[in-house]
Amino acid sequence: MSEDHYFSAQPASADERRLITVSLAGRDVEVETAAGIFSPGHVDLGTQVLLRHLPPAPSGEVLDLGCGWGPLALTAALRTADARVTAVDVNRRSLDLTARNAERLGVAGQVAALEPDDVPANLQFDAIWSNPPIRIGKEALHTLLATWLPRLAPGGEAWLVVQRNLGADSLARWIADQGWGEVTKVASAKGFRVLRLIRTAG
Ligand SMILES: C[S@@+](CC[C@H](N)C(=O)[O-])C[C@H]1O[C@@H](n2cnc3c(N)ncnc32)[C@H](O)[C@@H]1O
Repeated sequence: MSEDHYFSAQPASADERRLITVSLAGRDVEVETAAGIFSPGHVDLGTQVLLRHLPPAPSGEVLDLGCGWGPLALTAALRTADARVTAVDVNRRSLDLTARNAERLGVAGQVAALEPDDVPANLQFDAIWSNPPIRIGKEALHTLLATWLPRLAPGGEAWLVVQRNLGADSLARWIADQGWGEVTKVASAKGFRVLRLIRTAG
């Protein structure tokens, strides 16, 4: 599988859009996807595992870090009108799809799909939901997490899903060592671990 979607702002593959039916927030919905983005044919298995363990109704400011076509951002907005969701990705096709899917599902007013640099610098998050881009490599991943996890408000929670054989346990240890808060391995299923960070440090 080509993984240029992980690294390129503009994927090389043809931007042919298609509709797929997926289950999000307990209902079947149609969303738009395209080649050149992560998991264009279905809700990724790791994302499904994460969705099963997330708190039911986030409120306040929610960040979907690495949004793809938007399954996490859309779920947050569909679950509660109290969530204001910022969805970031480096892949512009993913951002366009997330914005269009939010429109399609009637939650455009709750979802802002933004390039990372366009997120207001003073915005803090009550929740961060992410199936992070592990394959960008350890150093880049650490830099990414060090950019966003400290932006959790005190008491805020980051929920991450990571494949066990791609270093979930060492990532959990690394996050715990940063002093941002308390890390728990909340669940383990289908080869994935769900990690939760509760922000305690300022
Ligand atoms: C594992 S995919 C998850 C996509 C989507 N959340 C899902 O569950 O289907 C990780 C995403 O992170 C994006 N990404 C890679 N590097 C990034 C970065 N530096 N900042 C934000 N997103 C990034 C990739 O383009 C990809 O869409």
